[in-house]
Amino acid sequence: MVRVLAPAKLNLHLEILAREDSGYHQLETLFCALELADELELEPAAGGVELVIEAATPEAGAGLGRVTDNLVYRAAQLYLAQVGLAEGVRIRLHKRIPVGGGLGGGSSDAAATLLALDRMHRDRLGARGRLRLAAQLGSDVPFFLCGSPLALAWGRGGRLLPLEPLSSLPVLLLLPGQGVATGEAYAELDRRRQGTATATPPEVLRTSRLTDWDHLARHARNDFEDVVFELLPQLAAAKQALLREGAVMAQLTGSGSTVFGVFRDQGRLQRAADAAAALGIRTLLTRTACPPSPPPFG
Ligand code: C5P
Repeated sequence: MVRVLAPAKLNLHLEILAREDSGYHQLETLFCALELADELELEPAAGGVELVIEAATPEAGAGLGRVTDNLVYRAAQLYLAQVGLAEGVRIRLHKRIPVGGGLGGGSSDAAATLLALDRMHRDRLGARGRLRLAAQLGSDVPFFLCGSPLALAWGRGGRLLPLEPLSSLPVLLLLPGQGVATGEAYAELDRRRQGTATATPPEVLRTSRLTDWDHLARHARNDFEDVVFELLPQLAAAKQALLREGAVMAQLTGSGSTVFGVFRDQGRLQRAADAAAALGIRTLLTRTACPPSPPPFG
């Protein structure tokens, strides 16, 4: 039996750049892993993929969909086909990361599945092979294979620069209970831009600046905020409330709908959590991850 953790992520920065002819978008993002994690247990089985999903909380279970559509199921099928294995695998997935909130739970589960299966089969695919499969499963999956809790990613998310971790700080997650479909958020962004190139100003990125919370707080942004805050105006108010309570930074993650606040002070975080709860917004407390989350790359 192999047991692995699959951490959630935040996008501390997310710029959507050019739209490719394929419809996909080039992006630039800063991924940061969280301590909040799903857990997977895998053991050899007779043939094919058997997946059982258990949810730790109602939010973690909401919107999970069919088992055969789950990224863990697809990752395991892809792995077995790629390696040409006759034997199968039985997987138990314990969900703690809310679904459809921009926290990368499904992508992280898929990456953990590839890592665990390759460990069970003496590294038959290796790091490169795993990355190739990861990129086929989704834009966020390669990050969870890179072994660093902080990484700058670009292209479609498959080009990664692992960075020294930021200091680990407490994070308050606000879960509005309504998801945003990633494809729709991209489509709405396209409509607003009407095919015009984005006016991304020229910039020199210094890696030391990307590991400094105060610098990030001043410069980070998420291009989905305009689109998603218009759809769900309560999120804009939630972000402002986090900043008023003293968050170092507060922002939407991915295409939402989770808004996060990073705090230096536990007391301020607790006041922000109480204020959100009074407004009927569900919250989750976690921290940014410090040690490498999955086993190191390579
Ligand atoms: O990667 P994921 O499966 O979450 O993507 C969902 C949808 O978001 C894609 O089908 C595509 O329409 C859009 N997308 C995009 N450019 C990306 C990633 C996703 O246009 N880099």
